[in-house]
Amino acid sequence: MTDVSVTQAGPVLEIILNRPEKKNALTRAMYAAMADAFRLADADPAIRAVLLTGNGDTFCAGNDIADFQVRAETTETIHASPFLVALSSLATPLVAAVNGAAIGVGTTMLAHADLVIACPLARFAMPFTSLGLVPEAASSLLFPRLLGHQRASALLLLGEAMDATTAKDWGFVNRVVASADLMTEARGLAARLAALPPEAVRQTKALIKNGRPDVPGRIAEELVLFGQRLRSPEAAEAFQAFMEKRKPDFSRFS
Ligand code: COA
Repeated sequence: MTDVSVTQAGPVLEIILNRPEKKNALTRAMYAAMADAFRLADADPAIRAVLLTGNGDTFCAGNDIADFQVRAETTETIHASPFLVALSSLATPLVAAVNGAAIGVGTTMLAHADLVIACPLARFAMPFTSLGLVPEAASSLLFPRLLGHQRASALLLLGEAMDATTAKDWGFVNRVVASADLMTEARGLAARLAALPPEAVRQTKALIKNGRPDVPGRIAEELVLFGQRLRSPEAAEAFQAFMEKRKPDFSRFS
């Protein structure tokens, strides 16, 4: 069985880290498989949301440390790089269901997810400095932005862990739900995203992630898109459905 399982469930691409005996630590083959899955999601108009989770009691124990040792002895470039490019540029919305501990890149990848739900046993830690390393996946940029400088420093400098409740309180995860309900909830969120007008969703995600940084610039950027959206077939269907007092059907759009 492959260490990353990728299956399509209707409009949702489900990616499951499937190396539970090694706590879903990521090998180069797993990075490559995930990068391929993200590219597939963006290339296939039938896929409208991506769901990422782990098999077993751990979401992801980070990079495979044996791989780190091999890499330290070679001059090869970091093989997580194409994965990070594909993840950070993913246009399709991404839901992460954190089923247990998330360490290193297991946590930093979550800063690129759009919605994160976690079980009560989830724990988030980035022990880079204690391993003699530095943060990756733009976590040194995204964590101060997400959580504030002091909290990010405790996580990234000291390597302190966040438990699920703290992660929820700090806004790093959307919801904490019982382990037994995690996948049902995650699939529910993915289905809700998948039922929305797909281009409106992709453009909103792009604005949230990479819109212009200044308020006047962002207002101008949104207005251009808003004007285009008003004339879009997706909006026409939404307005028509409202007038006809029926549920809109966006399934024909891509
Ligand atoms: N790389 C390679 N192997 C890993 C691994 C990793 N990042 N994380 C866990 N494993 C392996 C262990 O070596 C062990 O293998 P073995 O059964 O052949 O001895 C197996 O997974 C189970 O791990 P174990 O530590 O016994 O499980 P646990 O439930 O007690 O603890 C973790 C789980 C995730 C908390 C713990 O394994 C851990 O801290 N892992 C390292 C995390 C890390 O530092 N990652 C790098 C961040 S940059």
